[in-house]
Amino acid sequence: MKEVGHTESLNKSYGPIDALKNVTINLYEGLNLFLGPNGSGKSTLIKIMSGLIKSTNGKVELLGLNPWQERVKLMQKVGVQLENHALPKWAKGIEVLRYYAKLEKLPETDVKNSLDIFDISSYVDRTIDGYSTGMYQKLVLTGALLGEPEMLILDEPTRGLDSVSQQKLYQKITEKVETGCTVILSTHLLAEMPLKADYAYFFMNGEVIKWGSMEKIAEELGLVKLTFPIKDLNMARTLTRLMSIQEVTEVSLKGDNLEILTADRKKVTDELEKLGITEITEKHELARIYSEAMSKAH
Ligand SMILES: Nc1ncnc2c1ncn2[C@@H]1O[C@H](COP(=O)(O)OP(=O)(O)OP(=O)(O)O)[C@@H](O)[C@H]1O
Ligand SMILES: [Mg+2]
Repeated sequence: MKEVGHTESLNKSYGPIDALKNVTINLYEGLNLFLGPNGSGKSTLIKIMSGLIKSTNGKVELLGLNPWQERVKLMQKVGVQLENHALPKWAKGIEVLRYYAKLEKLPETDVKNSLDIFDISSYVDRTIDGYSTGMYQKLVLTGALLGEPEMLILDEPTRGLDSVSQQKLYQKITEKVETGCTVILSTHLLAEMPLKADYAYFFMNGEVIKWGSMEKIAEELGLVKLTFPIKDLNMARTLTRLMSIQEVTEVSLKGDNLEILTADRKKVTDELEKLGITEITEKHELARIYSEAMSKAH
């Protein structure tokens, strides 16, 4: 795993409010999720990482750069979409994209091609003040994606998007991660999130109470989910054997698949292989991992 950034004892106060308290984390190449209830500090950290606000104290580094002191350099490598992302209302969408392209020294063809990502060409010649919420969000996201950034920082990017646009966004994020782009994504849509996260960061009251690889977190919480298809196996026999493995915490039948929850991936995989089951897939149930991580923190 390749480190792409980190924070060290990072704090941010707004008068008496501690928005971030002593946050020390590493960020790695891949899809990093920022999760946590309203007001827990996700957007504050995202704004600090984007060089938009300054931390009260502590350190932060992204792609080897200090976001506050080297914002211009950083923004040439990173595409950002913030919550309440401010764009000049009097400008046309296309003018904003051309402005970004100019800053990044990108050709006009890049601007033209970017319009296809969310199919926004029909309205980018209109001024922004007339855009609907979703139209605005699609313009912001197009701007973030412009110029094939090395890193994407997205703060609840699906907000306001229709379902087709949401799917396009998820598709685009998958493509970006597959080609080595690091994505930092804050989201509340745990149950319907189709993306496979590599790392997760759980925020609560300004602290990051748990973070690390999804595999490790699932293991710690006993929520490694192993799934395999039931074919012509003798199911009763398989089930009995599975129940007798101490490390198995839950077994359930979902359609043609059997799902197992465990804290011990290796032990259970070995036992399954003894039963002749090798077609095992590991999945992560984000909503359940989230609620377990949060309840353990209380
Ligand atoms: N400009 C500000 N002035 C005062 N307090 C602020 C400011 N910005 C954020 N806060 C406070 O900092 C805390 C963290 O807010 P933040 O926006 O980071 O939460 P969040 O995790 O992004 O929440 P949400 O899921 O609702 O977007 C909250 O208590 C919030 O009220
Ligand atoms: Mg937020």
